[in-house]
Amino acid sequence: MGFEIIGTGRAIPPKRVTNDELAKTLDTNDEWIRSHTGIEARHLVDERTSCSDLAAESARNALAMAIEQGTCVEKTVEELALTVDMVIVGSSSGDYFCCPATACIVQDMLGAKNAGAMDIVNACSSFIYALETGAGLLSVNKGRRRALIIGADVLSRFVDWSDRSTCVLFGDGAGAVLLEKTDTQSGVLRAILGADGSGAEDLIMRKGGSRDPFKKGDAFAVPPHIEMNGRAVYVFAVNAIAETITKLLDAEHLTIEDIALIVPHQANARIVQAAAKRLALPEEKFFLNIAEYANTSSASIPIALDELNRSGRLRKGDHILCVAFGAGLTYGGALIRW
Ligand code: UT7
Repeated sequence: MGFEIIGTGRAIPPKRVTNDELAKTLDTNDEWIRSHTGIEARHLVDERTSCSDLAAESARNALAMAIEQGTCVEKTVEELALTVDMVIVGSSSGDYFCCPATACIVQDMLGAKNAGAMDIVNACSSFIYALETGAGLLSVNKGRRRALIIGADVLSRFVDWSDRSTCVLFGDGAGAVLLEKTDTQSGVLRAILGADGSGAEDLIMRKGGSRDPFKKGDAFAVPPHIEMNGRAVYVFAVNAIAETITKLLDAEHLTIEDIALIVPHQANARIVQAAAKRLALPEEKFFLNIAEYANTSSASIPIALDELNRSGRLRKGDHILCVAFGAGLTYGGALIRW
């Protein structure tokens, strides 16, 4: 049994904000942001757009690609949406605070009437967790064949725009893949999922959960926002990338020469460079598009996959290794035969 990606899509908000534009209202500058992160710009949603809007747009684009490329027999996006058995949205910035799941909103927007819907809330690792969950749900039930796996985040709504050490890092966006159960040995070959909850405080949004709920009369100088121990996350991330890559290769009896491209979570170009150095790999082995989009959290890997796919850089049979890390702290990797 295989779990092939038969379509990819992305949704990027049109509003592009450069480092120089941020520096007009924040004590920062283009040189610091570029040299410490590799980020040159980010795309941010307008006031009317929320997580489900981006998620649904990226999913429609993935469905449209499957139709255009003839990887399915259905002829319209609406027809194909009806064949989807699961809609899974990986996100930490869903439309609603507690319920309903954003995946339910997306399922309705797509007209995917025959699909179950659920969210995976696992910060920047959400997409890899959602991919493995999707493959698992397809494998345990003969009746399920297709799952839409979406990573979508609008963290611009949850950063403190006066805190230069976090707000410059993030951008908004969504990416989606249409996963199909097949009888080939291609697609998602193996995934690793991991966590170290002792680092939960290192990347956290404290307010609003059952530990510290909103109360009547609450007033905020700054709305509830993400707090981060950047150094600790940095160290965790470099280790997570290096160890996940090594474990996936060992488990599949592959060497790095068998891998066409590594697609890392795009949090900081320096994290990727440090991991490459640790593994004695050329940096070119890693795909980076952080310069344009910044850290789009759950969306960064599926956006990268779609960019690579549409530009023809992924050839059939290529081994692609995706690796993510984020709040939790969590990490995950997936080895895909394209
Ligand atoms: O998806 C996972 C999400 N998070 C991550 O992956 C983050 C992982 N961590 C990182 O990427 C890095 O730790 C950061 C990019 C967040 C920070 O880089 P750093 O090289 O660790 O900088 P730092 O926090 O040690 O700060 C160095 C200096 C400080 O000034 P002083 O105290 O040395 O005077 C900061 O105040 O840089 C200052 N600084 C800035 N200066 C200009 C911090 N942010 C900025 C900024 N512009 N935006």
